[in-house]
Amino acid sequence: MYNDNPTLETVPKVIDPNRQGEVYDDTAGKPGDGSDRKKFYIESYGCQMNFSDSEIVASVLSDVGFDSTRNMEEADLILINTCSIREKAEDTVRKRLRIFDKVKQQKPGTLVGVLGCMAERLKTKLLDEEKLVDLVVGPDAYRDLPKLVQTADSGQKAVNVFLSREETYADINPMRLDSSGVTAFISIMRGCDNMCSFCVVPFTRGRERSRNAFTIVAEATQLYEKGYREVTLLGQNVDSYKWTNPENEEVFSFARILKMVADVHPDLRVRFSTSHPKDITDDVLYAIRDYDNICNYIHLPVQSGNSRVLDLMNRTYTREWYMDKVKRIYEVIPDCAISSDMIAGFCTETEEEHRETLSIMEFSKYSMSYMFMYSERPGTLAERKYEDDVPEAVKKRRLQEIIQLQNEISLKHNQADVGKTFKVLIEGDSKKDKNDFKGRNSQNKMIVFPKKPGLKPGDYTHVKVREVTSATLIGEISSEV
Ligand code: SAH
Ligand code: SF4
Ligand code: F3S
Repeated sequence: MYNDNPTLETVPKVIDPNRQGEVYDDTAGKPGDGSDRKKFYIESYGCQMNFSDSEIVASVLSDVGFDSTRNMEEADLILINTCSIREKAEDTVRKRLRIFDKVKQQKPGTLVGVLGCMAERLKTKLLDEEKLVDLVVGPDAYRDLPKLVQTADSGQKAVNVFLSREETYADINPMRLDSSGVTAFISIMRGCDNMCSFCVVPFTRGRERSRNAFTIVAEATQLYEKGYREVTLLGQNVDSYKWTNPENEEVFSFARILKMVADVHPDLRVRFSTSHPKDITDDVLYAIRDYDNICNYIHLPVQSGNSRVLDLMNRTYTREWYMDKVKRIYEVIPDCAISSDMIAGFCTETEEEHRETLSIMEFSKYSMSYMFMYSERPGTLAERKYEDDVPEAVKKRRLQEIIQLQNEISLKHNQADVGKTFKVLIEGDSKKDKNDFKGRNSQNKMIVFPKKPGLKPGDYTHVKVREVTSATLIGEISSEV
């Protein structure tokens, strides 16, 4: 569920409700209505969860009289929703803060707020390090934003980094970021109880908790009614979703919530991310197999292909166990695409162990992967217990080998699709050519194809693949199914 692949730089996304007025317009009669409305600007970094959280932030602020702007110079409040997963992610945020500082110096009174994982990790230290930051707000404290903004407005620094065991923002109707109005994220859980030794997320996001199942279905239904045709259920480890109805103690598993969302409408596609190999069950695989609208795509991060390294990483599975899981997926859903995350150069990783990562990639036939160099994170188990002893140059070279191999595997994976016809959900115009549409098939592969009159984003069409690159399928609309 992460999107700052080294080959795919994270692009900040700016919320602009003006581009989605038909999707979000419930400010009427709310405090701050009329001419006194202020403006906020927000940038988001990191995983989809963070983008989803920014939509919650936007909704909370809108309720108290803020409109969003895409122009930071005209904002009263500049927010940055941050990521701590690797050092580079934090460096990017600090660079952005330098830019915000300049805006603030030109327009005194502008408030700058740091939200998300870096706020949680650094807490008040951020105020010492970044003098012009006015607000520091952790991922479980967004309901408190109106109060924090007031405090900051009065000239005091405002901080809330309290991590909750209950907060799921279940009742907040997120202000949608997606300008196309076709695809949306739905957060179904927060936090993570796994302790992968390299990972900062359990510290920045707190304990795992699952959201009320009925509010998830209600959100999906509302999205469908507004014209959305695809939802992605989000969590750090969706397979361990477990919600107990307090009224009758009925337990809802991930497989169950997946089917409940799929039942909203056959034309609403359902995706989910991320799956932990240790937790994905046969019931989830059967749901994917049995429901046409649950996409045949699983993001199943392996991290390493070597059992000793996996043990050091505390991933709780071995190479063989992971391979059996992959085998089982292809057995139950033969046309399922599987993608992965890999870390190159984790503590003490040898050359031979690295080659096991390469060989498990070939075995698993990943359609794509997010690939990273190990970056030591303060406070994690690995930082405390193991030496970050693989030299930078070796990490870099191993990462290059992983990327190169993945490109080859992706190309082969895509070449096998030439001549096939897929049902595609149209997402919008292709970036390269406005005469083409882009969309995805069930396997989450991007397909571009020439437009046809009468078709629009949000429609389904069948596309026959003519040629491919390692990243994209290229085809044309076809009546063959
Ligand atoms: N919850 C998800 C992923 C969260 S972070 C999961 O368990 O799969 C996204 C990815 O970032 C991870 O899968 C991992 O590959 C990578 N990552 C996490 N910590 C890292 C670190 N310290 N250095 C390099 N990559 C890291
Ligand atoms: Fe991090 Fe592991 Fe939790 Fe994923 S499952 S968020 S990698 S601790
Ligand atoms: Fe996501 Fe980065 Fe936080 S990956 S959970 S935003 S540390």
